[in-house]
Amino acid sequence: MARIIGTLSTSHIPAIGNAIAKKQQNEPYWKPFFEAWPPVREWLAHERPDVIVFFYNDHGLNFFLDKMPTFAIGACAEYVSEDEGWGIPTIPSIKGNPKLSWHIINGVVEDGFDPVMCQEMAVDHAITNPMLLMYPDAHWPAAIVPIAINSIQHPLPGPKRCYGLGRAVGKAIESYPEDLKVLLVGSGGLSHQLDGARAGFINKAFDAECLEAMVSGVEPLLKYSSLDVVEKAGAQGVELMCWIAARAAMQGDVTEVARTYHIPISNTASAVQLLSHTRTAIAKAA
Ligand code: DHB
Ligand code: FE
Repeated sequence: MARIIGTLSTSHIPAIGNAIAKKQQNEPYWKPFFEAWPPVREWLAHERPDVIVFFYNDHGLNFFLDKMPTFAIGACAEYVSEDEGWGIPTIPSIKGNPKLSWHIINGVVEDGFDPVMCQEMAVDHAITNPMLLMYPDAHWPAAIVPIAINSIQHPLPGPKRCYGLGRAVGKAIESYPEDLKVLLVGSGGLSHQLDGARAGFINKAFDAECLEAMVSGVEPLLKYSSLDVVEKAGAQGVELMCWIAARAAMQGDVTEVARTYHIPISNTASAVQLLSHTRTAIAKAA
């Protein structure tokens, strides 16, 4: 059976791709962010996930304001980076696992969600940043399944909906018959607002509350509406939904392996958190 081995949650920012391309990892501005990654890579080298299921948000690449799905799931054999800029060198395409994608799609539809099913899907910095941070040589050892959560066009799905989606995805993964090790990624966040009157808004106290909830369980965050999250985390801080969905997929025992929090990168409170997951509690409950 497939097994969820953990969740890696990380901020994504186009400038991170640019810093990687220009080898600026040790410059004072970037060092505190890039220092988070060696322990994560050590853990990955030990755990060796076969598939990475990404909860992320598309930034206008596949979907725009004219047609915006609340949730979309990729079922492609291959995903090409079409990130938006900075003159970043192209990176190798990333393999998909369409069989697992369709299994997840079937599971979540059965559980009351209606994702757009994408047999063509380009990927942006929300996927390429974490992939390059995890695997700097860009020889991807794992396939991906991208699950996009609308964080642009209102009405936005809030914590409760995204928690429900995560539960359904987790259940589908855990019922997949192949022996795959699956890592979840929650891409985005934490608090940030890129434009408007509150540009640069960061909320350390709320970020700390979220990082703690990721360890002990995100259920206390379900009291917030999507608009509460906009208020507390900034207009783009709603990317936190990707973290909540990933955490909700893990219903076994969770242990925090690594955490860093650094302000700011661009206008963002950047955070990296790695949680490992074992099914002990699930087995006990069964
Ligand atoms: C920026 C872009 C993002 O998608 C994000 O989540 C944070 C910051 C940026 O352009 O600075
Ligand atoms: Fe973003």
